[in-house]
Amino acid sequence: MSHLLEVKDLKKHFPLKRSWLGQATGKVHAVDGVSFHVERGETLSLVGESGCGKSTVGRSVLRLFDLTAGEVRLDGQRIDNLSARQLRPMRQKLQVVFQDPFASLNPRMTVAQVLAEPIENFEPHLSEQAQRARVERLLDLVRLPRAAILMSSRAASASASASRAHWLRIPSS
Ligand SMILES: Nc1ncnc2c1ncn2[C@@H]1O[C@H](COP(=O)(O)OP(=O)(O)OP(=O)(O)O)[C@@H](O)[C@H]1O
Ligand SMILES: [Mg+2]
Repeated sequence: MSHLLEVKDLKKHFPLKRSWLGQATGKVHAVDGVSFHVERGETLSLVGESGCGKSTVGRSVLRLFDLTAGEVRLDGQRIDNLSARQLRPMRQKLQVVFQDPFASLNPRMTVAQVLAEPIENFEPHLSEQAQRARVERLLDLVRLPRAAILMSSRAASASASASRAHWLRIPSS
């Protein structure tokens, strides 16, 4: 049986800087021959000093850019050489959870837009009413008031943290 995720001899080199004529004058070997595999239910941690290429490995697996060399297989299927269009259905199976939740929220988007975007992307057949019901269910799950729907995602996140902090300050006696 194939591995859930298999990465073979992955390389990603970034152009270092460009001359005034736009030509690359060197390159950073951000990832230079990394191989590993992950099975179902398994967690793999990449550990290493800052700048050693951990995030670049993650971004390569997600195909946020083209790879310099190597192979990435998801459930046995190569995804390193797929076009953007071919990758679209694959993206439903790949998800990134950012270290810094604030950096992952687009301050220009409302809470409703942030929550509805993946639903629209992956379940485009849902009616507007069904989408809204799903968004409201998500708000209920994290105990955000329905009124939060129209707030900017940053404001809602800050007010949720503030109310948690307030709750924590209540003395026990
Ligand atoms: N888009 C890019 N363009 C040019 N160089 C890049 C780019 N992304 C990463 N690099 C370089 O590639 C190398 C690896 O970076 P990467 O962000 O993968 O490291 P990291 O292990 O995740 O570091 P940290 O622990 O600080 O998050 C670094 O030298 C970085 O400067
Ligand atoms: Mg990183």
